[in-house]
Amino acid sequence: MSVNQSFFEKHLSYVEQELVRFIEEHTTNQELKESMLYSVRAGGKRIRPQLLLAVVGAFHQTVSQGAYQTAAALEMVHTYSLIHDDLPAMDDDDLRRGRPTNHKVFGEATAILAGDSLLTMAFQLLSMAQIESEQKLLLIQLFSKAAGGEGMVSGQAADMQAENQQITVEELAKIHEEKTGKLIEFALVAGGILANQPVEILEKLHQLAAHLGLAFQIRDDLLDVTSTTEELGKNTQRDAELNKSTYPGLLGLSEAKVALDEELVAAERTIEQIQVVTGFEARYLKELVKAFYL
Ligand code: IPE
Ligand code: IPE
Ligand code: MG
Ligand code: MG
Ligand code: MG
Repeated sequence: MSVNQSFFEKHLSYVEQELVRFIEEHTTNQELKESMLYSVRAGGKRIRPQLLLAVVGAFHQTVSQGAYQTAAALEMVHTYSLIHDDLPAMDDDDLRRGRPTNHKVFGEATAILAGDSLLTMAFQLLSMAQIESEQKLLLIQLFSKAAGGEGMVSGQAADMQAENQQITVEELAKIHEEKTGKLIEFALVAGGILANQPVEILEKLHQLAAHLGLAFQIRDDLLDVTSTTEELGKNTQRDAELNKSTYPGLLGLSEAKVALDEELVAAERTIEQIQVVTGFEARYLKELVKAFYL
């Protein structure tokens, strides 16, 4: 991976500290705590925290404790979404982040509760973050929208309903936009808010996130077909087994790759528009796009 080692390593280590410390200090039940830490510590690419950090860094801002706390909260919600996504009632997967899924180790009840607790704790952490009150309230509002019934959860519901169904590419794009795009959107827009950017720039970040979010899920769908379990740390070919609606399923591999490229070109164009307006230092963001999307 060729992402800027020093920038991301340094800042991510603070996000990791915040993530683990908060779970350790604020979970009373021992088994619940172990189950939460198991999934958080299993690794994961940390793309959402890195996107947030890359945006804050791009505006030449010092990365504050509040930014680490927001990034940690975001990774908590993402990790909860994966624990629940893997449950037998959903995608029924037994491998995640290179390890047995949470419910395989701790049982379904504890896995469900670990997800519940990570979700709730993310908002506890954000509410206690070192961020000025007005900004924090806005972040909490946007985060709850991105995670919930008009965001990721709604997308997950639509994803489940689209199993064994014939849907259009437009309908699929809408599912991807919610189930994966919304948390990625929060990463970028939260970065802009923490860097005190005006609404026009937040709007551009929103546009950029729409392209990056869709690209990320198209790539995830492609990798499910073309990659190996060893490379991904999760079982492949699952989408076909579950008869999911996916980009390669609907369009075929080569057209799905074209759709991915189109989103990446549009993302690049949006980054350039932001650079023109603000002198935005897009190096870190571009490195992330290369490392995680190509
Ligand atoms: C997997 O997300 C689920 C999707 C939304 C595509 P990631 O690919 O970011 O998973 P981790 O965090 O690296 O495990
Ligand atoms: C999951 O999408 C998106 C989430 C919101 C968790 P997938 O079901 O395709 O994610 P993987 O492939 O299991 O990581
Ligand atoms: Mg799923
Ligand atoms: Mg899944
Ligand atoms: Mg997938």
